[in-house]
Parts: sequence; C-alpha cells; structure tokens
Amino acid sequence: MSKPLLLQITASILGENSQSTKLSNDFVARWRQQHPQGSVQVRDLGAQPLPHFDADYLAALSTPADQRSAEQAARVAQADALIAELKSATVLVLAVPMYNFGVPSQLKAWIDYVARAGSTFRYTSNGPEGLAGDRPTVVFAARGGQYKDTPNDSQTPYLRTFLNFIGINDIEFVYAEGLAVAERQAQSLQQAQASAAALLDKIDGLSAQAA
Ligand SMILES: Cc1cc2nc3c(=O)[nH]c(=O)nc-3n(C[C@H](O)[C@H](O)[C@H](O)COP(=O)(O)O)c2cc1C
Repeated sequence: MSKPLLLQITASILGENSQSTKLSNDFVARWRQQHPQGSVQVRDLGAQPLPHFDADYLAALSTPADQRSAEQAARVAQADALIAELKSATVLVLAVPMYNFGVPSQLKAWIDYVARAGSTFRYTSNGPEGLAGDRPTVVFAARGGQYKDTPNDSQTPYLRTFLNFIGINDIEFVYAEGLAVAERQAQSLQQAQASAAALLDKIDGLSAQAA
C-alpha cells in the first residue's frame, strides 16, 4: 500500500500574509495529524515562480532528449518534475488568490507546464482523455470581492475545466470571499475554515479507498 502524499500548491505573492496560503496551511496541518505516515510536498509558486511558458521551452520540449542543450535539458527536467509530483500526489491542495478576475500568472505558468500531451492528457477519437489520474483535490479560493456562483467567477469554471481535462474530477472548492471588506473578513475566513475541516473527513474516506 503506497503512503499518502499531499501536494500543496500555493500561488499568492504575499507569503505568510496570504489568506489562501494560510487556509491551505491549516488544512494541510490537520491532514498531517490524521496521516502521520503521510508526506507533504509544497510548491510555492509565489516565492519561487516558474519561468513563463515560452517558445524556448516549446523548442526544448520538441528537441530529442539527446540533442538538447544543457539549458533546454534543465527546462524540460523542471517541467518533468512538476508533472511527476502531480501524478504521484494522492491528495492535491491548491491555494488560489484572485488577481484581476483570474488566477495568478504564477499558477497559470504551472498549468502550462503540467498540461503535456501524452503525459497528462491525450486526444482520442472520442475526445480528450485525462492521464494525470484522479485524486481528491481542494481549491482554496481567496477573493477581495464576492463572486461565487456568479458569472464573474471566472476562476472556478476555468480551474474545473483544466483539472477535468487532465483527469482530475474529484474537486472541492472552499471560498473565502469579501476579504477586502474589513467587517466581513473574519467571518468569511471562519466559514472557509469550517468548510475545510468538514472536507477532511470526506477526503479521508476517498483517500482510504484509493490507497
Ligand atoms: C494584484 C491583485 C489583484 C487583485 N484582484 C482582485 C480581483 O480581481 N477581484 C477580487 O475580488 N479581489 C482581488 N484582489 C484581492 C485578492 O483577491 C485578496 O486580497 C485575496 O486575499 C488574495 O489572496 P491571498 O491573500 O491568498 O494573496 C486582488 C489583489 C491583488 C494583490
């Protein structure tokens, strides 16, 4: 039986002051308590941003491995590592601030690297097929305003579409909204924490089945 591995991806530029990071940290701390035998891999995209997905990377990827320059090999190896850590995770946690109505560009770069034909998805005569493997996934969405269940919430459908595309369907969203409104902030964070705590039991049930 393989040991549970939680991959925590944070995307805020605010480090320890990030609400999405703090909420995800609380969740991960509780998960650790319940899984003393498990391990946690953290990828902090805000503190250590990935290079933009660009033509140089695409050229590196399409160059046969034995003909790549050292720089090209390093770029492909970095993307390989991102894909490998995603595929090996039994639980995925994404901490996602809203920046200008979308996901942070740091998270978009991660998405651009892990979406790789033949590895995390492929096209078949029946349409696209996700190859990354399904796993319980929790998205902590922090916003200054209020967008949940409105047409202006571009993050939720975008992330769901992308994750579904690579084969991740077991997704829960936890929202902390209205954080820019001082008198709403504490209550919103409390609600998000309570939702996250309730999710842990559900995820544990699913993780146990997967293990
Ligand atoms: C550059 C920037 C852009 C933002 N754009 C939006 C926005 O479009 N809508 C919104 O509701 N809040 C917006 N906010 C507020 C953040 O979503 C809010 O502060 C949230 O807590 C950020 O997550 P974090 O605390 O994990 O960094 C923005 C904040 C920053 C720094």
